[in-house]
Amino acid sequence: MDVRIVICGMGRVGQAFVGLLIQKDKDLKERYGLNLKIVVAVDIGGAAVSPAGLPLEELMAHLKKGGRVEEMPGFGKKGFSGKEALSLVPADLLVETTPTNIKDGEPALTHMRTALSQGRHVVTAAKGPMVLRYNEMKTLAEKSKVKLMISAATAAALPTLDVGLTCLAGTEVLTAEGILNGTTNYILTRMYEDGCPYAEALAEAQKMGVAEPDPSLDVEGRDTANKILLIANEVLGARLSLNDIPVEGITKVTPEDIQKAKKDRKVIKLIGKAEKKDGKVEASVAPMALPKDHPLASVRGTEKAISYLTDTMDRVTVSGGKSNPLGAAAALLKDIIRIYQG
Ligand code: HSE
Repeated sequence: MDVRIVICGMGRVGQAFVGLLIQKDKDLKERYGLNLKIVVAVDIGGAAVSPAGLPLEELMAHLKKGGRVEEMPGFGKKGFSGKEALSLVPADLLVETTPTNIKDGEPALTHMRTALSQGRHVVTAAKGPMVLRYNEMKTLAEKSKVKLMISAATAAALPTLDVGLTCLAGTEVLTAEGILNGTTNYILTRMYEDGCPYAEALAEAQKMGVAEPDPSLDVEGRDTANKILLIANEVLGARLSLNDIPVEGITKVTPEDIQKAKKDRKVIKLIGKAEKKDGKVEASVAPMALPKDHPLASVRGTEKAISYLTDTMDRVTVSGGKSNPLGAAAALLKDIIRIYQG
């Protein structure tokens, strides 16, 4: 089956996604019967367009040289926007990888609205539209009978929603607790294990491409809040908005706090938590000193984890998944495969 993709956002995740399509092309065809073609690749200054599918190796070589999509020889269109692409070029699916913006959700919000209302599936790494306009996005997808897949926005390579919705089907999920941000877990691990100063560990996380372009989203706990909000809404059936979630990040965690936790045989982790209380779902984000036998205590470095407490399967914890652009791209690809596997 041919799948015509419009991709918006050619930053690190967008480029990793294109690289993955090249790398996995044979496998996608043989194992899943999918021929994934990018018909438009959009970035800030315009797009590269080919209704028959862009030559991906050429596109990658062009981007690797520092070229912009709108300058791609033979395919570039200056000023061609995501909205225009989604309105004018026949396509089946939008892959949204523009940076998360939780002020007004743009430009991802316009792209996703346009795609969903025109009956195109959406697979997104951008969290803004889901965090700010959860009900609107879900309703649009339902009305158009298309899929809206958000694995890449909910801890990406760590399968939070797949486990919560599929593997735990039929249970009642009572609590979800997670280490949902690789940057902060990396910083806390370096501080705890190596006595590394906070600023140095943050710089390392930025260099690895794990941190957000604006790392205050990570260290102030807001990225974790976005993710636990979406997990609470999807898996625990909540309808929370960001205002419902008290958020504290790791910026106030001192070397003394770390030393004290060590002395108490505990480890400090930034935890996003959602739990059912008296029929309501409450969520919060804060650093917590966990005893060493807690299932999240041993999650180190950029690794993330989610631990669900259920009524009938007891506790189920999953950890791992790459916290980097490749992991995010792989989560986008996984969601696409799941759409076409039904
Ligand atoms: N910056 C995030 C992290 C990845 O550190 O896990 C995107 O959500």
